[in-house]
Amino acid sequence: METFYLSEPYSLCSVDQKINIHETAFVTAYFRAGDSALSGDKYAHLWANPIVANHAKRYISAVSAYEDYAHCLRNRYFYDTLKELIKKENIEVLINFGCGFSMYPFLLDASLHCIEIDMADVIAYKKEKTEAWQKEGLLPCRNITFLEADFNAPSLQDLYKQLEALKSGKRSFILLEGVLFFLGKSDTIKLFDLFNRLQGPEEFLASVSFQPQLEKQAVFKKLIDFVEGNLEKNQQFDYQTVPDSFYKDIEGYTLMDHQHTFSLSARYLPENKLPFEEILNEHMYLLQKNVNS
Ligand SMILES: C[S@@+](CC[C@H](N)C(=O)[O-])C[C@H]1O[C@@H](n2cnc3c(N)ncnc32)[C@H](O)[C@@H]1O
Repeated sequence: METFYLSEPYSLCSVDQKINIHETAFVTAYFRAGDSALSGDKYAHLWANPIVANHAKRYISAVSAYEDYAHCLRNRYFYDTLKELIKKENIEVLINFGCGFSMYPFLLDASLHCIEIDMADVIAYKKEKTEAWQKEGLLPCRNITFLEADFNAPSLQDLYKQLEALKSGKRSFILLEGVLFFLGKSDTIKLFDLFNRLQGPEEFLASVSFQPQLEKQAVFKKLIDFVEGNLEKNQQFDYQTVPDSFYKDIEGYTLMDHQHTFSLSARYLPENKLPFEEILNEHMYLLQKNVNS
C-alpha cells in the first residue's frame, strides 16, 4: 500500500486510512483554494498536496458537489464581515477557535492581533509552516499568538486564563467556524460560557453550525456515511446540529446577522441556482455582546 504524509511529521496518513478530526482542516483549506477570487483566500493553496486533494475529491463525490463552493462562500462572508467591523468597530483582536488552516491573519490588516487556537498538531504545524513562509516572503508578517487547546478537555479554565491575559481588555471578534459539528452539547456550552466571560460590551462573536432540520435530508445522511467510513471520531463526537434558538437565547448577546449557504450564494453569485437537496446548508450567526452586560 502506498503511504503518504498528510500533515508530516505529525500524522502519517495514506489515501486508504481514516483521517483525524484535526486533518479536516486541510480539506477545508483545499476547498477555499479552489476559487480564491470567491473565497478571498489567496494563500489557501499553500496547504494543498496530492493526499489532501484526494480526500477532498472523494468527499465531494460522496457527499455533495457543492461543498467547495459552500466553503468559499463561508470564508468570503467572514472575510468581508471582519474587514468591515475592523474598520467600523475598531476590532483589535481576532480569536479564532478551531482555526485550522484558515488564513485570516494574513489577509487582514497588519495592526490586528490574531490568536489562533486549535489542537496541538494543527497549531504546531501551522506555526512552523507559516513562520517558514513568512521568512521566504510567501506570507506577510503578522502579529499572531498560537495556542494549543482541546475543547473536549474537562476544564477550559487554563485556556481562559491565557486568553484573558492576552486580550487584556481589547475589543475582540471571536470566530468558531467549522467546529461545532465535531463537539458535543456540554463542551459547546462550556465554550460559549468562556466566550461570555472573556468578552466585554459590544464585542463580536461569530459561529457556524448546521440546523437540526438538515438531519432529515439525504445530503446529511451522505455526510454521516462518509464520516463513519473516513473519520477517526472521538468519544464526544455526535454529529452536532444547533437550532437557531440556541443563538437567540445566549444571555448577554444579540443576534446581529444570520446567513446561510443559499443567502450567501444569492449575495455573491446570484446567477448560480443551487439545487436545494444537494446543499449541505451551513448557517453563520453573528452576535454582539450587549452594552450593559
Ligand atoms: C473543518 S476544520 C475547520 C477549520 C477552520 N475553522 C476553517 O474553517 O478553515 C475543524 C477544525 O476544528 C478543530 N477542532 C475540532 N475539534 C476540536 C477540539 N476538540 N479542540 C480543538 N480544536 C478542535 C480541528 O482541529 C480543525 O482544525
